[in-house]
Amino acid sequence: MIRPIEIVILAAGAGSRMRSGKPKVLQTLGGEPLLHHILKTVHDLDPKKIHVVVGQHASEITQGIDQRMKINWVMQEEPKGTGNAVVQVVPHLMQESRLLVLLGDAPLIKSKTMQGLLSEKSDLVILTTTVADPTGYGRIVREGGKLSEIVEEKDASKSQRLINEINTGVMAINSAKVQDWVNKITDDNVQKEYLLTDIVKIANKEKASVSSIAVFDPSEVEGVNTFSQLAKMERVLQKDKAEKLMESGVHILDPTRIDIRGTLIAGKEVSLDINCVFEGKVVLDDNVKIGPNCVVVDSKLGAGTVLKPNSVVEGAEIGKNCSVGPFARLRPGALLGDDVSIGNFVEVKKSSFGIGAKANHLAYVGDAEVGAGANIGAGAITCNYDGTNKSKTKIGKNAFIGSNSSLVAPVSIGDDATVGAGSTITKDVKDGDLAVERSSQKNVSGWTKPKKRE
Ligand code: UD1
Ligand code: MG
Repeated sequence: MIRPIEIVILAAGAGSRMRSGKPKVLQTLGGEPLLHHILKTVHDLDPKKIHVVVGQHASEITQGIDQRMKINWVMQEEPKGTGNAVVQVVPHLMQESRLLVLLGDAPLIKSKTMQGLLSEKSDLVILTTTVADPTGYGRIVREGGKLSEIVEEKDASKSQRLINEINTGVMAINSAKVQDWVNKITDDNVQKEYLLTDIVKIANKEKASVSSIAVFDPSEVEGVNTFSQLAKMERVLQKDKAEKLMESGVHILDPTRIDIRGTLIAGKEVSLDINCVFEGKVVLDDNVKIGPNCVVVDSKLGAGTVLKPNSVVEGAEIGKNCSVGPFARLRPGALLGDDVSIGNFVEVKKSSFGIGAKANHLAYVGDAEVGAGANIGAGAITCNYDGTNKSKTKIGKNAFIGSNSSLVAPVSIGDDATVGAGSTITKDVKDGDLAVERSSQKNVSGWTKPKKRE
């Protein structure tokens, strides 16, 4: 008989070892809450129901998770242990399902591993692994090779603490047995908690079928209890993401120095230099080159575009063959056409640049429309904010904005118009005109320089 799959994720623990006000399952790994990782993987199994046990941080957790996910949130009033957490789920369970119990703080488990566990016939299947340092984990105790019990670190004898095979916390249970078994768990242990791991002893006593499956790579099932473990896991996840990109042909100069906190989609011949951070959804078309120390968030870079070192790009759409940076900042709503050049210390916000337009040094362009081929000189800025309202600046095709000019919005500079350096422009400039707004230069001939006082 094929039983439907039902999932329980335990996420009601206090997470006290993190020493953080934020619930542990909302701590982020690869930019996403721990719980999100497991939920996404679990969806691959197409389960009938997903129950997530939450506790004191319930509302924060339910709000922190993608609302589109169909979850049955189950409340555990007090974190009295993983066994007590499952007790809360019992009234919600289906009669004849295969129940998979997962821990909210072990986010890297793969769906293939879950499937392996679910396809076992035993009433209870425990997922184990072998680690070099088992400190903190429940130890797998075997008699004649057969799994006899799981002993938590605090309850373990000296010799049991030497066991390297550990409980991953993941198990599959025949749902018909769950109620009976979890209600038999007591808090008779050092922690004074109801430990789900006691279920092994209970099932064995009843001569139920108990088995185990081992996962080869422990990093897949490691739990996060401290920030130190979270940091190690981040590297595991990042290495995995980097490997996948390299397999698809992306040239990553050093896969240990990259952080992808979301999805990075890259075309052919893309190269990524060191220490770059990618957040949200980033799309890099063919031949894009990203220099060292760049941060790219929710943006798209067109084919052949080069992002030079130390640039920050967020919510931007960049055309083909553009050059951005070094030290450039593109903020949300920056839309660059093809062949645009944005140089050092240039900030662009909510502005479009037509084909071939340039702002090569020290400029601020906000709420503006820059025509194709226009050139914005060093130190030029759009004064888009009067302290109360934002206004727009329009710069025509092939216009030339001299250095250190201030364009006080709302204002419009015509096609082919020129603004003389140092001008403060408050009136519109017609196509082809020159606007200069500065006092005329006075030269004093025969000027004697002041002498230093005695
Ligand atoms: C647990 C296992 C241990 C295993 C390890 C793997 C038990 C008793 N121990 O230990 O054998 O080696 O995971 O990482 O199961 N939770 C609740 N309600 C509670 C307590 C915890 O929902 O009352 C949740 C937590 O939010 C967490 C998960 O259960 O997501 C595991 O709890 P945690 O306290 O981290 O257990 P470990 O000590 O890591
Ligand atoms: Mg844990």
